[in-house]
Amino acid sequence: MTSSPSAIPPRLRLIEIVSAGWISAAVSALAELGVADHLDTPRTAAELAALTDAEPEALSRFLHAAASAGVLTVEEGERFALTDVGRVLRTDSADSMRHMCRLTGREEFARTWGNAAHTARTGLPAFDAAFGRSAWEYMSDPAHTDFSGAFHRAMAESAAGATVNARYDFAEGAHVVDVGGGRGAMLARLLTEHPRLTGTVFDLPNAVRGADKLLADAGVADRAAVAAGSFFDGVPEGGDVYLLSRVIGNWNDEESVRILRGVRAAMRPDSRLVIVGHMPTGEDRTHYVRALDLYMFVLFQARLRSPEQYGALFEQAGLTLSRADLNPDAESLIEARPV
Ligand SMILES: C[S@@+](CC[C@H](N)C(=O)[O-])C[C@H]1O[C@@H](n2cnc3c(N)ncnc32)[C@H](O)[C@@H]1O
Repeated sequence: MTSSPSAIPPRLRLIEIVSAGWISAAVSALAELGVADHLDTPRTAAELAALTDAEPEALSRFLHAAASAGVLTVEEGERFALTDVGRVLRTDSADSMRHMCRLTGREEFARTWGNAAHTARTGLPAFDAAFGRSAWEYMSDPAHTDFSGAFHRAMAESAAGATVNARYDFAEGAHVVDVGGGRGAMLARLLTEHPRLTGTVFDLPNAVRGADKLLADAGVADRAAVAAGSFFDGVPEGGDVYLLSRVIGNWNDEESVRILRGVRAAMRPDSRLVIVGHMPTGEDRTHYVRALDLYMFVLFQARLRSPEQYGALFEQAGLTLSRADLNPDAESLIEARPV
């Protein structure tokens, strides 16, 4: 029996899957060079190399690899152009992922994934096996400001402010405390959209460095405060809404309950907790949520959770699930209130 000529042989499919990281590295390198910023018009590899200080023949190989994955097209005269996917690599794109693509290609993650079998064997984080400490400890070390800067730049760029603005109604004049809010990009977007909202961004000292400037540049500094500390030691009081965006997915159940209890202790009976992040919905159209769940495990021994799984954590922290707004294509949003 012969297989249909259009079926991709299993050996080819498997090697395609296992070599996907090479394509990923090519796209990260293009993001590092800022190639997409020069593609407002189709250009040759030689033109792009001159604009990005690259070696023309080498750059051409990276461009072709990215084109094979649908990030670019190759037009007449070997000119490269951005597809809709490629446009998100531009720094000036409204939903730019350039810094996220740069971050993904960093050596720290390559070493972490290189230790993935250690996680499979032991259940312990590969990052800690590779670097001898947790990712948060590593990032807090002044010797690694390059990595923490890249991380927080990527988080600020990809903050889900638009999702929250579109899916959550804030009461007039409410005060929002963004717990683990990094450089304040989410808070800046919320305060820009809601002129009577005030807020506090709370995070570790290395994360809030730069928050004052980001909030000032956004023109909302007069309605925003910046507080440094660890959420394991408590969080600022006075919030009508407490936000945890892309935070609980970084922690195991026991740690998550400790964070939630700290937030609950700061809440008034009428305060609300809003959790934002990718959640498995059962309707996912790509493998990204599964990949992100594995990434959380390999990096932090943590996981993504469904609203029901959050509900079980809430129960242990004096909270109850009051709303779930799932989004299979981006971050979902759930709300909890004190019991
Ligand atoms: C994945 S980032 C998400 C940042 C931001 N909320 C967003 O959605 O873009 C997780 C955040 O948790 C913060 N974090 C980690 N450990 C913390 C701690 N012990 N106390 C406060 N924040 C912490 C990190 O510094 C980081 O900013």
